[in-house]
Amino acid sequence: IKLFTGTSCIPLAKKIAEYLKVPLCDRDIIEFPNENLFVQLKSSVRGQDCYVIQTTSRPVHRNLMELLILIQTLRLDSAARITAVIPYLCYARSDKKDQPRVPITARLIADIVEVAGADRYMMVDVHAGQIQGFFSIPGDALTAYHKLLEYLKKLKPGLTSPVVVSTDLGFAKKARNIAEVLDLPLAFVEKRRTGNDAKAEALTVIGDVQNRDVILVDDEIDTGGSMDNAIRILTKMGAKDVYVTFVHAVFSGNAAERLSASPAKRFITTDTIPIPEASKLLFGDRLVILS
Ligand code: R5P
Repeated sequence: IKLFTGTSCIPLAKKIAEYLKVPLCDRDIIEFPNENLFVQLKSSVRGQDCYVIQTTSRPVHRNLMELLILIQTLRLDSAARITAVIPYLCYARSDKKDQPRVPITARLIADIVEVAGADRYMMVDVHAGQIQGFFSIPGDALTAYHKLLEYLKKLKPGLTSPVVVSTDLGFAKKARNIAEVLDLPLAFVEKRRTGNDAKAEALTVIGDVQNRDVILVDDEIDTGGSMDNAIRILTKMGAKDVYVTFVHAVFSGNAAERLSASPAKRFITTDTIPIPEASKLLFGDRLVILS
């Protein structure tokens, strides 16, 4: 097989290459002054089984274009099969028409990945399961929860009356699965969004969290609003230590500053999106990145 990566998640791509004992293939990616991108492969991929590892976190449109151009370049160089490995899929929250006259952008992303020339896709903990149905090519919707669960299982014996808490009702099913695997009770933060999906406001807690350590779960942290509000209301309701657990560290705007200033005991995540060194420093040893 041949492994390629864009510039969005080089550390993760290197780990995958090491794990598979397959080198990353050399390629040039150049941005011209007019922001157009140029890609050139440094060796032939004719007849090869190729994988492009590229997460589509910020800068979203640059990273997405790198992915699409890499796929097209492989297609034009006669690769036998191309798999788009997208650890974090951008626009995954735009998965339905829940207001009049709005797009379903996740569907558009699936379409353009196919049009570029991908034969298969791989994604990790994509926001909504139905997004798999937006692709007509086959693929694998992978999960990183087993990594988080391994960690939480080791943590559990040292916790005081632990409870799993979902940051919102939309994540309830997945939170219930996590609680079941850990054999722990479940509670919920009832979250309501205000404004245009940018601000979140946590309103109340459903379930018993008083004098308990909390494992607070969600799929991603974007602006940090949902988590920050959840941590605050849980603390107000008498929760003890809060362990924040999530797959995708999107960390837009001042999310890292905001969350690192919160009283949460630990932040447990994965490397589907690289976290900038400056943000890591803010969290210090409260941040655990699983691979
Ligand atoms: C929403 O449906 C997701 O599960 C997360 O709760 C959300 O993406 C977090 O966003 P933010 O960090 O901006 O509150």
